[in-house]
Amino acid sequence: MADKTFDLIVIGAGPGGYVAAIRAAQLGLNVACVEKGALGGTCLNVGCIPSKALLESSELLHQAQSSFKQHGIQTGDVSLDLAAMMTRKAGIVKQMTGGIRGLFRKNKVTHFEGLGRLAGDGKVEVAGKKGTETVSAERILIATGSSPIVLPGLANDGAHIISSTEALALDSVPEKMVVIGAGAIGLELGSVWNRLGSDVTVVEFLDRITPTMDRELSDGLQKLLEKQGLAFQFETRAESAQVKDGKVTVSLKQGDNASEVICDRLLVAVGRKPNTDGLGAEIVGLTVNERGFIPVNEKFETNLAGVFAIGDVIPGPMLAHVAEEEGVAAVELMVGHAGHVNYDAIPNVVYTHPELASVGLTEEQVKEKGIPYKVGKFPFLANGRAHSLDATDGLVKMIAHEKTDRMLGLHILGARASDMLAEGVLAMEFCASAEDIARTMHAHPTMPEAVKEAALAVHKEAIHI
Ligand code: NAI
Repeated sequence: MADKTFDLIVIGAGPGGYVAAIRAAQLGLNVACVEKGALGGTCLNVGCIPSKALLESSELLHQAQSSFKQHGIQTGDVSLDLAAMMTRKAGIVKQMTGGIRGLFRKNKVTHFEGLGRLAGDGKVEVAGKKGTETVSAERILIATGSSPIVLPGLANDGAHIISSTEALALDSVPEKMVVIGAGAIGLELGSVWNRLGSDVTVVEFLDRITPTMDRELSDGLQKLLEKQGLAFQFETRAESAQVKDGKVTVSLKQGDNASEVICDRLLVAVGRKPNTDGLGAEIVGLTVNERGFIPVNEKFETNLAGVFAIGDVIPGPMLAHVAEEEGVAAVELMVGHAGHVNYDAIPNVVYTHPELASVGLTEEQVKEKGIPYKVGKFPFLANGRAHSLDATDGLVKMIAHEKTDRMLGLHILGARASDMLAEGVLAMEFCASAEDIARTMHAHPTMPEAVKEAALAVHKEAIHI
């Protein structure tokens, strides 16, 4: 017998799970949300939010050290108080997770603290501090997220060989840091520690950074990061690492050439894997594919009736905002609404300085698909606001269909690119043409004027270049 009965149990309170729980409550369902750790999951506790706090703090330190003088601001010695920086970060995380607790109360979502395990027949066993209790519901939504991939030979020791979780909470600045992986995590956290004083080398198996982004802009970001002091070693595989006397020796392989690099901290950022361990999948017969993901249909239904899944635990991009949209769509579909996720309009951002932000198809993808296209580009060097902000690095690149003029992709390398991208995502949603964007009035002086100019440039009509 189940102790408590609900309309929906959500397992996991990350951005996918907690948003789904709130939306379901808004739709009139009696909802429980089971979470074994802190509310907010990876995103709020050891991901998006704390990394952005450190990115901002470290960028401010860098600016105070390097560009205040240009603005006519004289300072005394500017130095780092790492403990205070970490305290600020922790305070933000605490405030945000507390906010979810409040939202659960407001929406009458019942929060169960403990590890949720499927127990069959609409039941979930929650193993918490005070023992195990069974909760039941008509429907169960799995939103258990993902964790960093641990490579054989590069096992996390929590101190010297670390993942993003530990890299967000180091108590001193490593003299030398090696980062494995030039994806979002490697570049963001590599940037943080580089700005705080580490000598950072990023080792990447491929021949480029951020492989899913438009190549031209990825290469542009790489050059800017190199100017900031990050070193890159491409087409190199990290094979193993040994820790001795507080130093890590990393074994690398580039073609047939083996080499070693010694560092104080080795950050392994080679992707994430879905969290299905301990979920009881094998006991209840839930299908999990060979890569550990839970396959779902277009309504986010798993192979088990009444059991749904969303977010990083299902195949697809592992992004907080994708999980949120999937959570909302899944519960809306459950109650007969027309929930939908547009996978063609997913914003993707790397929060380095400058930021790299993208939506839609890259130039490589349109070529590969044989779509006739036009490109419009506009550099921030020709944007007035960028000059006043000292943010002239980068450009906007718009890709539009050659015949229909429909915008197919928007790629931005520049300060505040993440904010500017929203216009491009909306344009994708509404199937806007380059001309639609070009004829839309943009406030002056703003960075987004560069988006309008890139749209004008699609037809070779840009005004300021
Ligand atoms: P990733 O999959 O984006 O990049 C990992 C990189 O590591 C790849 O380029 C791969 O070629 C390389 N690699 C793998 N094994 C290697 C080896 N042995 N030696 C050298 N290179 C190797 O993974 P990342 O950055 O860890 O991110 C994980 C997930 O989290 C991604 O889905 C990412 O999109 C998401 N994420 C998104 C953020 C954002 O939107 N800003 C921030 C953080 C994470």
